Amino acid sequence: MNTSKQVNVMIGLMFLVLIGTFLYFIWDNVRADDAEQRQLVQNAERGGKLFSLNCRSCHGLNGLGSLENTLLPGLPLNLEANRPMMADPDDPGKTGPDPGKLMEIQSRFRDTIRCGRLGTLMPAWAEDQGGPMNDFQIDQLIALITGSMPGLDLPDNLSAISEKGWEAAVEEADHADLLRGKKLAAAVGAADTIFVLTDVGELTAASLLRIDDEVVRIVDISMDNDEITVERADFQTQAAEHEEGAQVFTGPIEPPTGPFIEVACGQTQRAPAPSGTPPPAATPAAPGVVPTPSAGQPERPATAQDVQAEFLEPSDGVTETDSLDNSFSLNNFQVKVGQEVTIRLSNTGLNPHNLRIAGLDGEWSSDDDFTTAIIQNGETDEFTFSLDQPATLVFRCDVHPLEMWGQISVTE
Ligand code: HEC
Repeated sequence: MNTSKQVNVMIGLMFLVLIGTFLYFIWDNVRADDAEQRQLVQNAERGGKLFSLNCRSCHGLNGLGSLENTLLPGLPLNLEANRPMMADPDDPGKTGPDPGKLMEIQSRFRDTIRCGRLGTLMPAWAEDQGGPMNDFQIDQLIALITGSMPGLDLPDNLSAISEKGWEAAVEEADHADLLRGKKLAAAVGAADTIFVLTDVGELTAASLLRIDDEVVRIVDISMDNDEITVERADFQTQAAEHEEGAQVFTGPIEPPTGPFIEVACGQTQRAPAPSGTPPPAATPAAPGVVPTPSAGQPERPATAQDVQAEFLEPSDGVTETDSLDNSFSLNNFQVKVGQEVTIRLSNTGLNPHNLRIAGLDGEWSSDDDFTTAIIQNGETDEFTFSLDQPATLVFRCDVHPLEMWGQISVTE
C-alpha cells in the first residue's frame, strides 16, 4: 500500500468514527427522552391511581366532575384547557406546550390540592395541612391533570400523557370496585328490574351497583336464585341493555355534603376573582317581571341563582355577560324573533365556566343547543343565536348546573 492510499484509509476510518459518535449521540439523546417520557407517564399513572382512591367521589370516574354527572360537586379536571398548547415559535406549523399558562395552572392547582378551598367541598390534602399526601404525590396528581410534572422536561404532547393517567384512574376504579367476579348471569333489557347474577353474596340492599355506564340501586336481594331487584338509572345515568357476562361493580361513592370550613394554609376567604371589565348595564323592565320559561324547558334547580328582573338587550348585536364563581353577572336576556345576536361570555372567575342554551327541545346537550366552549379565567367565547318564533329558553353553565342559571326571551 502506498502512502496516499494509507492516508485515504485513515481519513475514511476517522470519518466512520465521527459518524459513529454522532449516531451514538443522537441515540443516547432519544434514549434519555424516552426515559423522561416513561417516567412522566408513570407519574401520571400513579396520579390516576391516587385520584381514583381519593378524588373521584367528587370529581367523577373520568375526572369530568359536574360534566360527568350533575350530582357531583367537583369541577371537571380532565379538560383540554388544563393542558395548554401553543404554536411552536420556531416552527408555526407545529404545536407544543404553552409553558407560561402551564406554570400558572400548575401552581394554582398545587395550591388548591395542598390547601383545599375554604367554603367549598374541596378539602386540603397536604400532610403539613393535616391531609394524607406528600408533595411528590401532589405533583403526580398535577402530572395527571396537566400532562406534565413540575421539575421534569415538558413532553411534546400534554394530552397524550394526561390520557394515560386518566386511563389508569378508570382501571384503578374498576379494580377497586370489582365485586369478586360478580357478573350478569343473563342479559337484561332497558326496562327489566330483576337481574340474575352469578352470585349475590356480600351485596346489601340500598347500595349502588355500576354495570357498563348505568348505575342501579338494589331494592331487594333473593339469595335462593341469585336475583336482585333494582331501581334502574340511578345517579343520573340512563337505563340501557346489558349483556350476559357484563361485569358488576360497586357503585360510585356518593359525594359528601359540605361546605368544608377547616382553615388550611391560613386561608381566610376565597381568593377574590381578578376584576375584568364590568358588563354592560341591563335595561330596567317593569319591576319584578320575570317571564316564565316556555313549556318543556328544564326546571330551574332550587339552588340556582335567581333570574334578574331587568332585561339585557343586545347592544350593536351583542349580548355580553360575565361568569363569576359561580354565577352569571347578567342572566335575563331579551332578543327579537329572527334577530341574529352574538352571545358573548367573559370568564372573570377563577373556575372554568360556559354558557349553554338548552334550545327549543328543552334537552341539555342535544343538537339544537347553543353553547360557548368551557373557558378559563380571562378567556372569552361567543356564539350566534337566533330563533324564528317567540319563546323563553333557559341557559346554564354545564360546570355549575345547580348554581349558574339564566333565561333568554325571544319576543315579537
Ligand atoms: C369532597 C369533594 C371533593 C373531593 C374529595 C376532592 N375535591 Fe377537588 N374540588 C371540589 C370542589 C367542590 C371544587 C371546586 C371548588 C370551587 O368552587 O372553587 C374542587 C376543585 C378542585 C380543583 C380546582 C379546579 C379548577 O379548575 O380550579 C382541583 C385541581 C381539584 N379540586 C383537585 C382535586 C384532587 C386532586 C382531589 C383528590 C386528591 C380532589 N380534588 C378531591 C371537591 C372535591
